[in-house]
Amino acid sequence: MIPHNVELGDDSAMKAQAFRMLDDIIRYKLGRSRPVFVSYYATYRCNRRCMFCDLWKMNAPELTTEDAEVVIDRIADFGVKSLGISGGEPLIRKDLEEIAERARERGIITGLNTNGILITKKRAPAIAKAFDAVSISLDGFEKTHDEIRGVKGTFREAFQGLRNLTAARGDCVVGVNLVLTNRNFGEFLAFCRWIKEYVAYITFFPVSESPGETSYSSLYSIPRDRVDDFVEQVLSEKARDPSFIEPSETLIRLLREFIKGKMPYICDAGRLYLGISPNGDLKICPCVSDKPPWKIGSLLDKSMKELLDSDQFYSALEVIKSCRPCLAGCTTPLSLLFRGSVVHQAKEALKYLKINQRTRH
Ligand SMILES: C[S@@+](CC[C@H](N)C(=O)[O-])C[C@H]1O[C@@H](n2cnc3c(N)ncnc32)[C@H](O)[C@@H]1O
Ligand code: SF4
Ligand code: SF4
Repeated sequence: MIPHNVELGDDSAMKAQAFRMLDDIIRYKLGRSRPVFVSYYATYRCNRRCMFCDLWKMNAPELTTEDAEVVIDRIADFGVKSLGISGGEPLIRKDLEEIAERARERGIITGLNTNGILITKKRAPAIAKAFDAVSISLDGFEKTHDEIRGVKGTFREAFQGLRNLTAARGDCVVGVNLVLTNRNFGEFLAFCRWIKEYVAYITFFPVSESPGETSYSSLYSIPRDRVDDFVEQVLSEKARDPSFIEPSETLIRLLREFIKGKMPYICDAGRLYLGISPNGDLKICPCVSDKPPWKIGSLLDKSMKELLDSDQFYSALEVIKSCRPCLAGCTTPLSLLFRGSVVHQAKEALKYLKINQRTRH
């Protein structure tokens, strides 16, 4: 998910974008929304085996560079505003910057989720140029991160990647993404204060079931009897530095419900956000399986409009009504953004869009 914690500018391109976003919000309120965010899993290959993730186990054919650009063009033609690229480890693809550049050329805001290991000094400038925002995974201090990520030295490699990127960053907004677990919630605040010196924001989400085949979340969740205190502490920290702690207060409060198994059903899959599998299949949500009935169809064969008019789309919308309530980085913040008062949401939406003042070429 792309952060929305950066100051507003007032150039005319941004105003035009804000009006389009306002239009999206009004459509949403009228029940006629259209997807504004797409998460593309560029590959499931990965150079790590983190304890809570099984995406690397999934074996999927990948798009060629040319086909990935066709897919980007199709989402741009539809008017998607924001593209998040994730994986597996997306930087394993050597053409990732090229693919993201295509999205930027088409006026789409680009975000990257990465474990940071492959951000070499040589590659950093191209990554910074291709992405409006990059979230690097760090799950705590060195010992904790290495334990979670399964390989000693991972923290140092990721942190070096982070430093390489911030040195070359230009207008790219660089932040940290942390998965909250029973292993790291105790050091979370100390880690926030330390990492602040190096990045623009920290975002965090509770460990949850990944779209792979194994469920890990209950094994690693924050203990239920500790979550109230934890949420209070994070809210105090957020009050001290609202823009650095990226999740909204509402979202931080929802952590309690999520951990206690009382999370309300907040879902706008298919209406505000969609996923793309490594082979170019469109799916109803970034966080669900690639298989039918969640898979809608291939963006290599059909336009977004055709796919969103198809029977498969409407069946997928029915299926997700029985989804277990989720709290995830690529879905819940956008849903919360579109709920509430129009004026407040328009302001937040503009912030969300206004990653920086970059001119698009
Ligand atoms: C799937 S990874 C892909 C990008 C890259 N490999 C990385 O680790 O950042 C995207 C984000 O999801 C997080 N993640 C992985 N498994 C998760 C799970 N079971 N619950 C919540 N977040 C998870 C990762 O830590 C990372 O921040
Ligand atoms: S969280 Fe990222 S780095 Fe870890 S196994 Fe999953 S995809 Fe790979
Ligand atoms: S409820 Fe299911 S479909 Fe909806 S956002 Fe959550 S994981 Fe995606």
